[in-house]
Amino acid sequence: MSAGLESLKHISPDSGFPIAIHPHFSPKIRDHVPPEPLRKEIVPDKDRGSFADPEKKALFSVAKPVALTESIGTLLENVQLSQLTPQQLDELALLVNERGVVFFRNQDLTTEQQVKLFEHYGILDRHPAQKDVKHVVIRGSTEDHREINKYTPWPSGEWHADTSFEINPPSYSLLRMEEHPPVGGDTAWISGYGLYDALSDSMKKFVEGLHAVHTSRLQYDTILDLWGVGPNRPPIDSHHPAVRTHPVTGLKALNVNTGFVTGFAELKKFESDKLLEFFQYHLHSADDHSVRWKWDVGSVAMWDNRCVLHRVIPGSYEAPRRGIRTTVFGEKPFYDPASEGRAERERRLKAATNGQSKESNGEKLINTPA
Ligand SMILES: [Fe+2]
Repeated sequence: MSAGLESLKHISPDSGFPIAIHPHFSPKIRDHVPPEPLRKEIVPDKDRGSFADPEKKALFSVAKPVALTESIGTLLENVQLSQLTPQQLDELALLVNERGVVFFRNQDLTTEQQVKLFEHYGILDRHPAQKDVKHVVIRGSTEDHREINKYTPWPSGEWHADTSFEINPPSYSLLRMEEHPPVGGDTAWISGYGLYDALSDSMKKFVEGLHAVHTSRLQYDTILDLWGVGPNRPPIDSHHPAVRTHPVTGLKALNVNTGFVTGFAELKKFESDKLLEFFQYHLHSADDHSVRWKWDVGSVAMWDNRCVLHRVIPGSYEAPRRGIRTTVFGEKPFYDPASEGRAERERRLKAATNGQSKESNGEKLINTPA
């Protein structure tokens, strides 16, 4: 185990989780004074996806979409992000809203162009450990996340939406790979729409009445201990709806991730722990709602943190990995009880279409789920 955790120097070999992170074991945590205050809520401009042509004719006139799975992930072929017009960028946003994550290969985009492109989507966010105002550099890890998790309580390799603990968690993220090893370091995404649909109706009702506690505290400690850079802001806990409504698609998405959620505001601790344990299973068994991406130099993924979770596939590899990530602020997560699940919407639309065709055939309209 070679992780550079300061706390490892202060524990005996048979000492375990989670005392390693106690401030007395790491003066770096005890002594750190974040230079910036906590953020206040902002109301971002209307999402660019809501300005798009639903058929995305401008984008699809130059780019060929290839669906990677039924539930999530589309590869856009024959297109350079650097060449897209504002109209095509809006349509890309809508595609990302719907498909969760959109991929590109062999892109010529520079960091400067990436920053400019992302400013089209809103106000650029800044990760708590981010020094550069405009983007964050994502490096590879030669550590297996499962090994690090023996020593630090922040499950850094777990499913998460980027900085979901913020009052305004990010909407869009774009990661472009500048250096990458030939194998290893894959990223996987799962659909929040699909994760919601995969619950039983009774469970949906129960979870829709809850708020998930998203915290940055565990990451805060680990950033200080492992990464050697001070978080810019104090730790924060945010209570966000456990099911959120997407502002553009109007669909419900599960808003629980095992990377930052530590419990549920309305529940007692043991109830909360058990429910979180269930979600651990639910997220890790959602193969039908997941997509796994093998990176290469020039590969890009753009995703919507409001309707997908992601994680790096655990493992270690011997090569440099360097990705440039840009992110913009999203709205404060909300739940609209009148919104619908994706499967529910598909059933409704199918029933409406069937009804129409039966009506035109002179058949009696029967209002039943298809
Ligand atoms: Fe992430």
